[in-house]
Amino acid sequence: MHEHAIHPVSPEWAANAKINAESYALKYRASIDDPDSFWLGEAQRLDWMRQPTKIKNASFDPDNFHIRWFEDGTLNLAANCLDRHLDKRGQDVAIIWEPDHPDTPNRIITYDQLYKDVCRFANALKADGVKKGDRVTIYLPMVPEAAVAMLACARIGAVHSIVFAGFSPDALAQRISDCDSQIVLTADEGLRGGKKVPLKANVDAACEKAKVRTVIMLRHTGADVPMVEGRDVDWHDAIEPHNAECPPEEMNAEDPLFILYTSGSTGQPKGVLHTTGGYAVWASMTHEYVFDYRPGEVYWCAADIGWVTGHSYVVYGPLANGATTLMFEGVPNYPDFSRFWQVVDKYKVEQFYTAPTALRALMREGDEWVQKTSRKSLRILGSVGEPINPEAWDWYYNVVGDGRCPIADTWWQTETGGHMITPLAGAHALKPGAASFPMFGVQPALVDPTDGHIVEGATEGALVILDSWPGQMRTVYGDHERFIQTYFTQYPGKYFTGDGARRDEDGYYWITGRIDDVINVSGHRMGTAEVESALVEHHSVAEAAVVGMPHDVKGQGIYAFVTTVAGTEDSEDLRKELVQWVRKEIGPIATPDVVQFAPGLPKTRSGKIMRRILRKIAENDTGNLGDISTLADPGVVDDLLANSPHAK
Ligand code: WTA
Repeated sequence: MHEHAIHPVSPEWAANAKINAESYALKYRASIDDPDSFWLGEAQRLDWMRQPTKIKNASFDPDNFHIRWFEDGTLNLAANCLDRHLDKRGQDVAIIWEPDHPDTPNRIITYDQLYKDVCRFANALKADGVKKGDRVTIYLPMVPEAAVAMLACARIGAVHSIVFAGFSPDALAQRISDCDSQIVLTADEGLRGGKKVPLKANVDAACEKAKVRTVIMLRHTGADVPMVEGRDVDWHDAIEPHNAECPPEEMNAEDPLFILYTSGSTGQPKGVLHTTGGYAVWASMTHEYVFDYRPGEVYWCAADIGWVTGHSYVVYGPLANGATTLMFEGVPNYPDFSRFWQVVDKYKVEQFYTAPTALRALMREGDEWVQKTSRKSLRILGSVGEPINPEAWDWYYNVVGDGRCPIADTWWQTETGGHMITPLAGAHALKPGAASFPMFGVQPALVDPTDGHIVEGATEGALVILDSWPGQMRTVYGDHERFIQTYFTQYPGKYFTGDGARRDEDGYYWITGRIDDVINVSGHRMGTAEVESALVEHHSVAEAAVVGMPHDVKGQGIYAFVTTVAGTEDSEDLRKELVQWVRKEIGPIATPDVVQFAPGLPKTRSGKIMRRILRKIAENDTGNLGDISTLADPGVVDDLLANSPHAK
């Protein structure tokens, strides 16, 4: 398994890093043996209004299930991200905003300025009637106002729910309604890779399905968009009457901070709910240790704020640590394939964090695009969102990092709030493709999926976490039963991640990918059930089954088997129409790569679709389909094989 070189910790990193091999071992042990003292210590990285005295109070035991951290402490996360930095760092840069096109003026925002912007916008929200605990939907592009909006919510105790600005009006409407949010923050248009995204028009369409009191709209591209009288307010007009004084709301550590919808293996996306204290400690601690962050350094996480990576590692983690965080509106290949590395040079970025899909897309364009830039400022590189294949890892390490910069391959999830398994540059020798070792307080284990017993040593299994950590989600918004059902019933008493993993003889964890019905397209989670339900909404579709397929750049692509209603012609035009249909229903990230018409799907006699067979066909691994004798009609498999695009 080790054909790729192992990179030992360099002497400089061992000597200078915030965490080295020895301190990692000590802190890890302390975090498990005496969590209360360990986490009381880590909690001191925040300013509390009332210090917590109760630290960990959590159990995954089905008879006594509860998760609470720092439960008698109070704090405000916006104040931790802003107010407490003003004395020492008011003039330091909080956010560098780099626009979609390099010729558009950038924006440099100091902590002083960000504080004022947040307070004014917080007052605007209050004036609109937003109160502590109310939900606020944010559907904004990657502009500083997105961070302002998040922090303004946190400041007044409102719960933000960010919907990725690439989602369709339907997907947006569903997320607005699910959490009953009365207010939506948006922009006239988004801009990515030179293309305009009609955000306000999407909000208007969503408002036909969801009940919304107020839409606050930021003028970004200056497009001429209609405003609805009595509902829509210009961002500028909303803040105009307000001053920059807005005392932060005193929040209990367990008060909700945000909701973020994410795909699961069944049903519609669920609202992952994070609370204030534990999440803040987790985001701040992991950002500092994993990126070895020191104030003054320019740090860049290229993720969109529409995903959890943008929440924890563009906004909350870095700003809690007083960092300079770079916010990038654009894409890696516009105006050309050097864009990322030119931005690194322009601002002397020291930490850079992106997803393997972006690296694979850039890697195939050739090394010249990278090599014509300096990148000397880079110290450490990060990867997130999907397993990084060793080829992409080596390219990242050797070409982008010139063999100088350690790579943090960070495994985590929307549900976990922040990094869970990752190498630490000063502590762990790097193995390309290995997520490596647990963060403090994280107790990973592998279980045998057939009977759930824990398997030890060098082996493979389903990845579970044995005990709570501060950054853990607390519930599915509005459906606590679903939270328990989804994560704690498969292997009772343990948190099930949905991922498979391997542990090697040195104890390194290697994530092998999802083992449930979630597919990971370009590092974005997609539930097969969501794509299926979009397909069957089409009048020509009787039934659909969706599985993942290997894809060179995206990691996984979407493969849909579709049975049309009787009398429909399975034409090329219909195939194209269905692809467009799913794009429109969910958003471009859900675009199917393959639509195969299937007169019948492989079902058991009880009517359950045997996805195992469909996966094998999608993977073109049809040599051994396993036992198909339990199928109601084994004949359908021959048809599926004959008509698969792989067979042509
Ligand atoms: C996958 C993104 C391998 C995994 C932060 C997980 C990874 C899902 C890695 C969560 C990694 C994330 N190596 N797989 N370093 N990071 N994943 O909720 O399957 O969007 O369960 O959170 O992405 O995706 P989510």
